[in-house]
Order: sequence, then C-alpha cells, then structure tokens
Amino acid sequence: MLKNENYTKQLLIGLIITLVLLASFSYMFATEAIRMEESTAEHHKESLGYGRALFVENCTSCHGTRGEGIVGPALNDKILLEEASDGVLFASIQTGRPNTTMPAWGQAYGGALTDEDIHAIVDFIRAFEENAPEVIVGEFTPSASRGASLFSTTCFTCHGENGLGVEDEDGNTILAINDIDSLKKNDNDWYEQIIVNGLPASGMPIWGETLSDNQVQDLLALMDAWRAGENVAPEATVAQMLDSALFSLEQGDGENALFYMNRAKPIAFGPLLTDFESISADIAAGNGDAATMADLRDAWPTGDAEAGEALYKETCAGCHGSEGQGGVGKRMQPNDFITESTNADVFAFTQAGREGTAMQGYKGILTEEQLANIIAFLRTWQE
Ligand code: HEC
Ligand code: HEC
Ligand code: HEC
Repeated sequence: MLKNENYTKQLLIGLIITLVLLASFSYMFATEAIRMEESTAEHHKESLGYGRALFVENCTSCHGTRGEGIVGPALNDKILLEEASDGVLFASIQTGRPNTTMPAWGQAYGGALTDEDIHAIVDFIRAFEENAPEVIVGEFTPSASRGASLFSTTCFTCHGENGLGVEDEDGNTILAINDIDSLKKNDNDWYEQIIVNGLPASGMPIWGETLSDNQVQDLLALMDAWRAGENVAPEATVAQMLDSALFSLEQGDGENALFYMNRAKPIAFGPLLTDFESISADIAAGNGDAATMADLRDAWPTGDAEAGEALYKETCAGCHGSEGQGGVGKRMQPNDFITESTNADVFAFTQAGREGTAMQGYKGILTEEQLANIIAFLRTWQE
C-alpha cells in the first residue's frame, strides 16, 4: 500500500509559480504593446529619413529642396496635398508624366525606385502638408502643338500619325480620330470623357491617371484644331528635325527633307544658320547631299562659350566641379565622352540625362541655346 502522502506544500509552490509566470507574461504583453508602438514610430521616422534622402537625390533638381517647385510644380502646396491622396501621389511618381520632364520612377516603368522607395517618398511629401502654403499657379493656356507633340509620342502607335488611323490586315483604315465627320459629331466633353476614362473593353487605355489635366487640355486643343481642318505640327527640337531631314534625304525624298528644314530654320540659332540656308537651297534645286546634311546635323548646335561658362557655373559645377575636376558627376576637363562625341550627341545626352544616376535630363530646364552655349564652353576644356 502506498503511503498516504501530503501534497499540499507542492500544490502551493506550483500555484505560486503559475501566478508569478502569469504576472510576468502580462507585464511582457503590456510592454510589448508599447515596444511595438515605439517601433512603428521609429519605423515611420526612418521611412521619413529614407524618403528625404531619396527626394534630395532624385527630385530636388526639379521640385526644389523644400518641394517649393522649380521646373516641376510645387509639391509643398496645401491645395495639391489636400486634393491628392497617397495613392494618387504614388501613381504620379511611379508612372511619371509622359512628354513632360517628369520621369517614370517605378521599376515597372523603367525607373530606378522600388514600391517601398516610392512609399517612403510619399510619406516625406505628405509630411509637408501640415505647414504647406497655398500655391497659386499662373494661368494655363492649352496648346494644340503641345497636344500634337504628346499625340506623336503617346497616341500615334494606335491612332496613326496625325490621328489619321492605321491600316488593318485587309488594308482598311481603322482607329482614325482626325476625321472631320466624327469630330463634328462629338464635342470636346465627349473626347475628354473618353481620353480620361478610356474604353477598356475596346482596348483604349485609361489616360486620366497618366496624363495631367493640362495635358488633356492640350489634347482637346488639338481636337479643336483638327475639327477646324488645321494641320498641326508638333513642337519639336531642331535636332529632331535635322535627323528627320537627313533620313528623308537618305531615302531620296527631297520634298520631305525641305519640309523639315523649313520647320527647323525659324527655331535654329547661331552661326550655323547660313548652312541651313545653303543646304535648303541645294535641296530645293534638286542637289540635296546627305553627307553635307550629316555634317550639319553633327555640328549642330554651336553656341557661345562665354555665355556657356556662366551657365555651367550656375547649373553643372555643383556636381562636375567649377574647374571640371569632377565630384558627384564625372570629370569634365578633359572628358573622353565629350572629346569623342559630336555636339549633337553631347546635346542629346544632356537633354536626356542618364537614367538611374544623378545626371538628370535638362530638356525643358535649359533652352536648346543655353545647352549649346554650355557645350561650346565644355569644348574649350577638351584638347
Ligand atoms: C526633370 C524634372 C523632374 C524631376 C527630376 C522630378 N519631377 Fe516630378 N514633375 C516634374 C514636372 C514637370 C511635373 C508636372 C508634369 C505635368 O505637367 O503634369 C511633375 C509632377 C510631379 C507630381 C505631380 C504633381 C501634381 O501637381 O499632380 C509629383 C507628385 C511629382 N512630380 C513627384 C516627383 C518626385 C517624388 C520626384 C523624385 C523621385 C520627381 N517628381 C522628380 C518634373 C520632375
Ligand atoms: C494601345 C492602343 C491605343 C493607344 C495608345 C491610344 N488609344 Fe485611343 N483608342 C484605342 C482603341 C482600341 C479605341 C476604340 C476604338 C473603337 O472602339 O472604335 C480608341 C478610341 C479612342 C477615341 C474615340 C475615337 C472615336 O472617334 O470613337 C479617342 C478620342 C481616343 N482613342 C484618343 C486617344 C488619345 C488622345 C490617345 C493618347 C493619349 C490614345 N487614344 C491612345 C486604342 C488606343
Ligand atoms: C546633380 C548632379 C549633376 C548635375 C547638376 C549635372 N550632372 Fe552631369 N553627370 C552627373 C553624374 C552623376 C554623371 C555620371 C552619370 C553616369 O554614371 O553615367 C554625369 C555625367 C555627365 C556627362 C557624361 C560624362 C561621361 O563621361 O559619361 C556629361 C556630358 C554631363 N554630365 C554634363 C552635364 C552638364 C552640361 C550639366 C549642367 C547643364 C550637368 N552635367 C549637371 C551628375 C550631374
């Protein structure tokens, strides 16, 4: 027979241990909740710091160090921040704005930033809101030729050049928009509604999230011009038109080459203008020569080195050094890329910038003439 043992003591010890454990668990629970709150706040602070670093690196050249706006609109703007949700800001940054200097930043759109990066930047911009001033923007005037320029990069793949449609397999013209009858039948409210909301079932993309209101207004100005039977030339650079003129000459198409030269001349500048005249005269006389044309294209644009020096100091020296010794940006004195490239190549590069680096494109920031002047100055550093 087992001895009748007395367990009361053990039971009491067990109970005490359980109570102590319970107490310490609930203490841990309580402090954990505080710890979690602290770490969320910490995370938010980190995200803000990270967002600020990304903003400084990628956005200040256009939107200003405090988001006050330079070439790009002010982001430190009460009205904008009240109207735009985080989602809208995210989308604008991710996809950029086609045909403006606002690049697409999302990796899915060829940019350098991850979703997490963009969220951090949105947090940083959102933090402006509390103290943001209201920014009054100047009057906007829609422009058909800006609309045509946008159309020629964004819409023409489906709707054809000048909106005249494309041919299907059977040779029928489809998707024409520049068609007087339908333009007269529908007003701009109708066009605006279709452009903004798309026709997803038919394959017409939704543009309202990608294009700014102003860009849509430019497209509607284009519809007006087409409706009035006007032929609208897109805004284009001299360099683009010289490329097109050269291409036409190489195809033996003097008439088109002359067309492009005549469009380039009024906006061209500097000492090369006399070459524009003589080459145009040769083409008109049926003696167009592609090699001479290629020389002009490669020499374009020439500028004034003295004016360029001042601009370089203002705009480029911060990264490339006041003596071209380099810094954030590459060394400019001397620089192999410049030595080996034509003016047109350096021009195209500085207009476009290099994706994923601090070297932003200067298209829309500096005029063609200003860039030409800087290039003339940079040439004086190459021997
Ligand atoms: C090279 C110049 C340039 C750079 C760099 C640039 N932006 Fe922009 N951004 C613009 C321009 C120009 C617009 C206005 C486009 C338009 O007309 O709709 C714009 C528009 C925007 C808008 C929409 C504002 C609105 O009014 O709806 C946001 C948000 C924005 N940019 C954020 C950024 C962020 C964040 C970065 C950096 C990751 C950045 N941008 C870098 C030029 C730039
Ligand atoms: C990926 C191809 C594609 C692109 C790019 C595209 N569209 Fe469309 N669009 C369509 C299709 C498909 C339709 C539907 C045609 C139909 O249903 O008859 C359409 C219809 C339209 C219509 C209505 C035409 C009509 O008279 O019925 C307008 C206006 C229009 N698009 C404007 C634009 C503009 C402006 C752009 C550039 C910002 C653009 N589209 C870019 C494919 C495209
Ligand atoms: C915010 C800094 C920054 C500014 C401002 C800047 N650059 Fe740059 N630039 C860079 C960086 C970084 C590179 C190198 C990009 C790379 O890694 O390919 C570069 C590259 C270049 C190159 C190509 C050099 C080579 O060897 O590949 C040229 C030309 C150039 N910049 C010209 C200019 C001019 C002209 C200006 C002023 C209008 C300017 N940059 C302003 C940062 C800057």
